[in-house]
Amino acid sequence: MTEQENALRAGAGSAHDVDGIAPRVRLRDRDAELRSVDAAIERLCRGFAAGGTEIGDLLTFSGRPGIGKTSLLHEVRRLAKLRDGTTVLFARGGERQFKDPYHVLRQLLQPVLSNLQPEAYSQVMGTWEEVVGPAMGLKQPKAGARRLDPQGVRDGLDYVLTQLAPRRAPMVMIVDDLHWADGESLSWLTKFAIRSSELPVLLVFAFREDENDWPVETQDFLKDVLALKARKHELNRLTLSSVTDMIRAELGDKAEDAFCYEFWNVVNGNPFEANALLDQVREQELEPVEENSRQLRELAVDAAGMTLKSWLDRLGASTLRFAWACAMLGTDIRVDLATRISTQSTEGARDSIKQLRKQRVLTQTPNGNLEFVHPLIASSIYNTMPDATRLGMHGIAAAEIENAGLGLLAASRHLVETHSGEGDDRIVKKLRRAAVEHQLIGAPEAAQRCLHRALNEPPADEIKAEVLYELGCSALLTDPVATVNQLRLALDPDEVPLRPALRVDATFRLSEVLAHAGELGQAALVCQGEAEKTADPAGRQRLQAAAFMWHAFRKSEEDGQGRSARLGEMCRSLSGREAADRAVLAMRAWDLTLRGAPSSDALALADEVLDGGRLPKGLGWTDTTWGFELPAMLSLTYIYNDRIAQAERLAADAIIQFEIAGWSGAHRGFAYFLMGLARFRRGLLAEAEDFLRRAHRISERIGEKLPLAWDAVGVLVDTLIARGRLDEAWRMANDFGFHPPYHATAMVLPDAASLYGKLLVAKDKHAGAAAALTEAGAQLEVRGWRNTVWAPWAGHLAIAIADDEPERAREYAQRAVRDARAFGTASAIGSALRLHARIEDGQAAVELLEDAVAYLGQSPAGYEHAVALVDLGAALRRVGRLEDAQEYLYQGIELAQHCSAEGLVDRARRELANYGLRPNRLGLRDFRDTIETLSNAEWEVAKRAVQGVPPQRIADELGVPIGLVNRRLAAVYRKAGSGPDGLASALGLPQQQGRDAGRPEDLDD
Ligand SMILES: Nc1ncnc2c1ncn2[C@@H]1O[C@H](COP(=O)(O)OP(=O)(O)O)[C@@H](O)[C@H]1O
Ligand SMILES: [Mg+2]
Repeated sequence: MTEQENALRAGAGSAHDVDGIAPRVRLRDRDAELRSVDAAIERLCRGFAAGGTEIGDLLTFSGRPGIGKTSLLHEVRRLAKLRDGTTVLFARGGERQFKDPYHVLRQLLQPVLSNLQPEAYSQVMGTWEEVVGPAMGLKQPKAGARRLDPQGVRDGLDYVLTQLAPRRAPMVMIVDDLHWADGESLSWLTKFAIRSSELPVLLVFAFREDENDWPVETQDFLKDVLALKARKHELNRLTLSSVTDMIRAELGDKAEDAFCYEFWNVVNGNPFEANALLDQVREQELEPVEENSRQLRELAVDAAGMTLKSWLDRLGASTLRFAWACAMLGTDIRVDLATRISTQSTEGARDSIKQLRKQRVLTQTPNGNLEFVHPLIASSIYNTMPDATRLGMHGIAAAEIENAGLGLLAASRHLVETHSGEGDDRIVKKLRRAAVEHQLIGAPEAAQRCLHRALNEPPADEIKAEVLYELGCSALLTDPVATVNQLRLALDPDEVPLRPALRVDATFRLSEVLAHAGELGQAALVCQGEAEKTADPAGRQRLQAAAFMWHAFRKSEEDGQGRSARLGEMCRSLSGREAADRAVLAMRAWDLTLRGAPSSDALALADEVLDGGRLPKGLGWTDTTWGFELPAMLSLTYIYNDRIAQAERLAADAIIQFEIAGWSGAHRGFAYFLMGLARFRRGLLAEAEDFLRRAHRISERIGEKLPLAWDAVGVLVDTLIARGRLDEAWRMANDFGFHPPYHATAMVLPDAASLYGKLLVAKDKHAGAAAALTEAGAQLEVRGWRNTVWAPWAGHLAIAIADDEPERAREYAQRAVRDARAFGTASAIGSALRLHARIEDGQAAVELLEDAVAYLGQSPAGYEHAVALVDLGAALRRVGRLEDAQEYLYQGIELAQHCSAEGLVDRARRELANYGLRPNRLGLRDFRDTIETLSNAEWEVAKRAVQGVPPQRIADELGVPIGLVNRRLAAVYRKAGSGPDGLASALGLPQQQGRDAGRPEDLDD
């Protein structure tokens, strides 16, 4: 047969279809699959044409090697491209490339992203350019960039795809050999596949279903893939008649039925194996007759089990060497690289390629690169390499790839496969640099592979600890346990010590990971111990301060008072205002806040930390010298000292900074928590709930019941109580296990026991509440923490015991008021007074609540204010002052509505209704109230409408579109509570008014 025919059959050579990429093969026995493909593409295109966006779908093709997955995907590509306007993206995993971070996603997305016009590009990338760009190989990381959190890259990719898909819809995204996709790509793809139905995207995956075909490193993803909701197609073997057809097309009609039957059995209907066996039959010139069918099985064994010797016989040594070089490179093989790696001349390489194409090992793609005809052949060739050759050739590959200017990232995959044990400093250096580069694209695992390999080299003694330190840092965002172990090794006193500056840093990082895992006492000890050994004053101060910080976050400490005194001492002895000094001030500000010391003192210190209201250099959210705990302490200080707007600015900044840095784990979760807490304190309960739920979700994603989850759940329960969803709060607390002894080692923000006691009081479980709150009080007293907002235990304890022990209850309530006054913020005093009033009756309660309302009215604590208003209304009703009661209850309802405190609204309405008062204000809202809610633009429209000017003329006069006028009119009618007829009177305007009218209040003045 001619080479051309051969190529057509085996999928090589020139018979390419429309797109010039995929060879066309007649697909037998795939009618059902092709119909499914057709239907999916049709649905996508039609759905999109009809204006649909949530029309995504997922098709999967699975089956054994050689069964025809790739051939089907080529057909999907071809069919999709025949449609107008579709965007077809394609990528494939490679057996040799599954350790290349983002290898698959880069193939998939690079072409389409880099083809966008600059404006579209920046819209698609949004704020994620510095995260997604480097990971997708679209740009170099910015100078001074920090390590990226892979979760950040995934979040960024979600954003980018959400932007990209509608712009390039309908979009078909195809991934072949998903089982060899790199872990970074897989972990995004499997999640994206779940939500792709929300986008105009058809996803098509092909993969081997046998888990042994998946690399151990990524095997876990198989179950994710199998669990996906998809139109699944498991490819069946070809029928006897199809295989018979194939045989006769090749060998002529003389092929006998019995021969064909045996042939079909031997290849088990597998088209790849059928082709391979046909080659053998032809080569051996076996007559296709019944008597010869017994020899087929042997031939098939030969065809499948190619050994080193059989490849050598077939190709010759120098051609085989070229094939090895290609196998090492995997897919999309550059001829020049393969040539240099095989150490052949250009001439020699040309001969090898010719030979390998003839033998149907390689095929050339339109871009001039080489591909193996089938990955089974690539595996077979790679696996016949003798160990020494393989290790050596990887070394050459690494060097050649670097020489070709493809960078260390690309070279490192080969570097990690080379010989170790030579102690080559240059290799160690390269691997360390490659590790850094991997971190910058959000691939910490690849970084760790490089560093592990560097350790095996091994590095020189003086730098071994440094490599361990780097290894520890590389896992900081993803694998705390590994980090701890490696950093401990780096600090091992029996080894050649780290440079002093790195020692301080390694100790700080170790303490950080310990702290995040809840081991705060350990964290503090590690810092204290190292501080004593540190000669450099700056390093020592950093470690001492860190020890203070970790102690402060512990659930309990033996010497809280002493620590606080020492911290105060340290604070006074500071002479400068460097970042390290300000760090100490921030800690002291938080310490004072917890102690309930005068609020003005804490605020004065906090304000000294900031630079014009912003975090100073060196203490930013993503600064690694101090970690995010420091700005977090500062934000908490502002939250608890009634400067919530400042805290919100800091928290918003945190969310953005962490997004930009791609730190999507605990960091972003904590930022959401802070924002949630701030919103809660301010009384914006619905928003608080949303932020806190996000924080909780992120925390659960990282690990089970981390301190962050405790924080989020605690405040969430409090928020739900405030919103009047007590049962839900109770269920949430129980499901999570929010009860004593709380987190084993870490302090919960805010005080867990107070929250828990409050919940029990709300559930009328007074005895349990009393026990929990008494215990809380005793613990806090030891520490000297008396902040009644952070830990309102005394006020709630008073309520819990009021019925049985009224005197003791009063002592607690008064004590809380005293402590609150000492602290001095309006919200603290107001809330303490309000709680005290709960255990008093008659005039005493009224007076306390009048005071409480006055204080809370000057604080940002909106919800607390609303509760006090309603409580005051109820107390006034009880002493018979109905008119006043009504007024406060109305005010309370309005504020409670603003806070989304639905339960409080109901309580106030019931209070009104039960005593014969109207549950709502009579509709006599003053027109002034309405006018205040109109925007200037709405007012302009309203004035003209009252004069009877028709909408089109209003539009002309104001120079705005008619649609806008109509929308504004609708808003005016809604706010005024009136249609056109009554509008004038609703707005307090005369019916026929001069056209130059101002707002009525202007006229009044
Ligand atoms: N349905 C089919 N009918 C005939 N030949 C096929 C069919 N499917 C695949 N082939 C041939 O079998 C070989 C292996 O197919 P391929 O699609 O690469 O399999 P897989 O991707 O599942 O390993 C190719 O040479 C291809 O041309
Ligand atoms: Mg395939």
